[in-house]
Amino acid sequence: MTCDITWISISGDAHQPCSAIQDVTDILKTVGRLLDQGVECWVVVRLDSVEVVKDVFWVGAVDWNVRNFHGFTYSTHRGTTYNAYLIRDKRIALVDSVYAPFSEEMVQRIREIVDPSKIEYVVANHVETDHSGAISRILELAPNAKVVGTARCKEGLQKHYFGDWDFQVVKTGDEIGLGEKSLRFLEAPMLHWPDSMFTYIEKDALLLPNDAFGQHLATSKRFDDEVDERILMDEAAKYYANILWPFSQLITRKIEEVQRMDLKINTIAPSHGIIWRSNPTRIVEAYLKWAAGEARKRTLIVYDTMWESTEKMARAILEGVRSLGVEAMLVRLPLSDRGDIIKELLDAKGLLMGSSTINNGPLPTLAPFLEELRGLKPSNKIAAAFGSYGWGGGAVRAVEDALGRAGIQVVSPSLTVKWVPDVDELRRCFEFGKEFARKVLE
Ligand code: FEO
Repeated sequence: MTCDITWISISGDAHQPCSAIQDVTDILKTVGRLLDQGVECWVVVRLDSVEVVKDVFWVGAVDWNVRNFHGFTYSTHRGTTYNAYLIRDKRIALVDSVYAPFSEEMVQRIREIVDPSKIEYVVANHVETDHSGAISRILELAPNAKVVGTARCKEGLQKHYFGDWDFQVVKTGDEIGLGEKSLRFLEAPMLHWPDSMFTYIEKDALLLPNDAFGQHLATSKRFDDEVDERILMDEAAKYYANILWPFSQLITRKIEEVQRMDLKINTIAPSHGIIWRSNPTRIVEAYLKWAAGEARKRTLIVYDTMWESTEKMARAILEGVRSLGVEAMLVRLPLSDRGDIIKELLDAKGLLMGSSTINNGPLPTLAPFLEELRGLKPSNKIAAAFGSYGWGGGAVRAVEDALGRAGIQVVSPSLTVKWVPDVDELRRCFEFGKEFARKVLE
């Protein structure tokens, strides 16, 4: 004897009214009871797709539990999504896929709309595995599909998956007709990798820019008008600062290129997070601002301390900064998340960095942050260094050198204190902060 239990979203049973099953535990109890009775049964988890515009469906996956991304380089406190888009037309296309562990989730969403074997084009906007991880699986199901991407994408996918796939290389301006709709491609190297490109559907004024304009945000909602705007922009800023900041010049040029092409864009559907449908201009304007290095006249004081001398300095400096009405934020490095600090820096003109001295250098806890700054090369920032020492010193000089390597202009002479700051030295710290605030206000 066979029966099906269909769990729709969070509850539902083919044999009982949905209201009779309240949660997963109830479903499992029902399954257990049926199994005890010798009834063969399946739990069918139904995963809904979401129609972004007519006949373009979100078929991605929500990764609620990921807390570290790119290895351990980016904290994802709010999880993420891997967005893939299915275009249903005379010919069916899938744009991007998902991280491999979510392959079946994506396939299931596709099955809700079409038979996966009918897919004729698998567009890979980007090689990185969070978007290409399910490509092998989808090509098993759609063995006649062409893989579409840039020349570098072809090379990258072959080196990742070693598949003998039918590949169609595209470049800016190339188009693939699907029937009513067509896919137009725009190369976007370094947004986020050399292989990256955007896909544009003119009929729907829909841009699928992969990593660009994304956010690491897991939510059951799919659109910008359905989520808290502050959280959305916070995650978008963190994403930009931690991933795209080094490519700011390219981003400005790419946005200007798109503007010159005069493409109508009503919806921007990135590969992470929510889809910008109510106000896509909002995120484009934010990108232009971030790429230009525009930031508020505020100051981050980022430091670590061994026996509280540098901490006392940092607090006195904070008061000095505040005395001119400049907003300041005190961040002790090992206690704070590096990715969050970098996001804060995106919107702060000033950076003051402090450290105690150990072995003639800064505390090692500063190193990951300074190394991250070197790679991100934040533009239009000003900085100064401070710290304490017992005998030889060296921490503050090393911090200044590291700031220079990150391309950050050091605008004030550093401030050092031997052992513990006394009243006069704390006054100097206050003045140091005040002087820096003047420069922030310029
Ligand atoms: Fe979300 Fe560059 O991958």
